[in-house]
Amino acid sequence: MTESQNSRALRESADVIVLGAGPAGLVLANLLHAAGIDCVLLERASPTHVRTRARAGFLAPNTGRILDRHGLADGLHRRGTRHGTCEFRTRDGRFRLDYGALGQGGRGGQHHVYPQQYLVADLLTHYLDRGGRIRFHTEALAVGDADGTRPYVTTREPDGRPTRWTARYVAGCDGRHGAARRSLPPGVVRRHHHDHGVTWLGLLAEAPPSLDAVGYAVHDRGFAGHMARTPDITRYYLQWQRGVPADAWPEQRIWDELDVRMRAADHGPLHRGPLQERGIFDLTCDVVEPLRNGSLFLAGDAASLLAPAAAKGANLAVLEAEILAEALTDALTRGDTAGVDGYSDRCLEHIWRAQEFTGWMTRLLHAPPDADEGAGPSFQAALRRSRLASLRTSRVHQEWFAENYVGV
Ligand code: APR
Repeated sequence: MTESQNSRALRESADVIVLGAGPAGLVLANLLHAAGIDCVLLERASPTHVRTRARAGFLAPNTGRILDRHGLADGLHRRGTRHGTCEFRTRDGRFRLDYGALGQGGRGGQHHVYPQQYLVADLLTHYLDRGGRIRFHTEALAVGDADGTRPYVTTREPDGRPTRWTARYVAGCDGRHGAARRSLPPGVVRRHHHDHGVTWLGLLAEAPPSLDAVGYAVHDRGFAGHMARTPDITRYYLQWQRGVPADAWPEQRIWDELDVRMRAADHGPLHRGPLQERGIFDLTCDVVEPLRNGSLFLAGDAASLLAPAAAKGANLAVLEAEILAEALTDALTRGDTAGVDGYSDRCLEHIWRAQEFTGWMTRLLHAPPDADEGAGPSFQAALRRSRLASLRTSRVHQEWFAENYVGV
């Protein structure tokens, strides 16, 4: 430890403390800093970890517009690719849905495929280049006095010393297991939780995409998914038995199973490659309501967790960050608290819409956990088949899908 670190005060302050340097925290910090607000970002992990952590990669048109509006979209335009087609594979054959060309009246549009770690790296570079304040290796332990007059955050600093940061507002963008959620006193907020009863094995393959669309395969053996990331990296998902570890199967067995469920024999082979990463995703979701306790506001995964079926999480995080940045700026620069007072209701409207559509997608792609597939086509499986048929044949249904699939 250097002398200057030693003599640093154990108390620090900022008008806004942002916890967590994911998409939510970084968009928020960038916008606050650009508006001249005194803010600091506290992040538990290292800069390298933040810049390289592979997560989602599907950015909705509205997310692109938000990033554009604030001059944060250079990387997205340079390296992102446009995407507007899904392919469903079922036992009735396959059909493609060009959702990017549907959803009239500006409600539809195309996604950008842009790995989340690229977006996070862009946002971090932008923030640092403009002199934004950030502390890495700094773990928030708790948020205190949120409903009092002097909210604070206790942290463990890189050198292990406990520090107390005081603020006027605290933005909890530190994810589902962060300090912001943990600090909500019982009884003040309600936590809705739902388990879809489905688990995915998420895979990152060192292989080019196998089709020029997002692939959703519905199979009696379980769901399989294909999502392009970059020309050399592709994400696959396999519905997985809950509780079985991610490394239970050798690579060969995983590829063979992907072939079966994606019906490679009928629709063309998958490009195989080494599996760089495997992760287990239990498809659960939750919502904290309201997204505020006094001076503490929640955004991103800290506010609401979505099952990954419709890739909405990062998009909601960016939207909430923009809404919160505007609200906090109004409150701090003009004393206008209408935005902070309306923040929770405004975001919850988007969150519940996204939860509803994600739940619908989840039911479209998977048999419910209690469906008796072994004894012939179950009632639930027949409903699912009918839902897919409607999506294949009904223009109105396709329009509805397009609007919800790309919207947040
Ligand atoms: N103190 C400081 N930082 C913390 C703490 C803590 N106690 N706990 C977590 N963090 C940091 C994490 O290291 C991470 O960098 O908070 C950040 C949270 O970032 P994300 O998990 O990316 O969450 P968010 O910004 O809300 O983005 C949500 O991204 O991949 C998707 O599933 C994710 O879709 C969701 C979206």
